[in-house]
Amino acid sequence: RKKIILDCDPGHDDAVALLLAHGNPDIELLAVTTVVGNQTLEKVTRNALSVATIAGITGVPFAAGCDRPLVRTIETAPSIHGDSGMDGPEQPESTIELDPRHAVDLIIETVMAHEPGTVTLVPTAGLTNIAMAARKEPRIVERVKEVVLMGGGYHVGNWSAVAEFNIIIDPEAAHIVFNEKWPVVMVGLDLTHQALATDEVVGRIAKIGTKPAKFVMELMDFFQKTYKDAQGFDFPPVHDPCAVAYVIDPTVMTTRKVPVDIELQGKLTLGMTVADFRAPAPEDCHTSVAVDLDHKKFWDLVTDAIERIGEP
Ligand code: BDR
Ligand code: CA
Repeated sequence: RKKIILDCDPGHDDAVALLLAHGNPDIELLAVTTVVGNQTLEKVTRNALSVATIAGITGVPFAAGCDRPLVRTIETAPSIHGDSGMDGPEQPESTIELDPRHAVDLIIETVMAHEPGTVTLVPTAGLTNIAMAARKEPRIVERVKEVVLMGGGYHVGNWSAVAEFNIIIDPEAAHIVFNEKWPVVMVGLDLTHQALATDEVVGRIAKIGTKPAKFVMELMDFFQKTYKDAQGFDFPPVHDPCAVAYVIDPTVMTTRKVPVDIELQGKLTLGMTVADFRAPAPEDCHTSVAVDLDHKKFWDLVTDAIERIGEP
């Protein structure tokens, strides 16, 4: 099984990423960590715990991490995720206790406790925790198998004309993560804008008929409305589970090896993920970007995971 640490800010699509990681039999979820992003740290952490309660996730440590970016002031996304960060469905009081460790320490301890080359980091939020972990314990950089992150976009932005939310909210952290020498797979907007929760997809999930499936439908319902109002989409792009899906089965998408760096100076381009497509990619290129999604294969993985979770 593939060992992952999910670093997230639930978040409608983070919730689906967590369900996919938990329900898929090829993934071993070692830890879930939270970071300020879609909402404050307190809110996204509460949301993560309620998803865990709904999905019956036990025996996995959940820890809260950084409550602000490295340099910038906090920017959240209520226009997309609502005031709670996961508006729509009713949220149960969580029965799960938070791990007392800081997320950065939990990430470091988990990576160091496993064989080199076996743990994949899957950040689906701002990169503050991951950057802090790499700085606090530089040995994790060689030890991690790869970093498969949802963020950025080589041809498209959403929080500015050229920058994506997870990158622009903490561009300095993203700069650290993209410049460390671990393999980085950028599952950006170019890819995730193909992962639309169409009526057909939501219909398939509805048919499952369990509480977790109903929870996902209600999430998608809210997400569809805000994505329509705020960003003009007919159907919402469900970004974060794409990164988890890549770890499960890399053939769910095509990728291309290309150097990527983060713009930290630009007045109009702050947080842009600048991908250099001039071929050939240098020998030591350690970054790649996701290009084309197999829509059916992706949603098959998600619906299968929800089915397997059943009625916890
Ligand atoms: C990313 O930003 C967040 O709002 C989503 O959860 C996703 O991780 C998409 O730009
Ligand atoms: Ca997210």
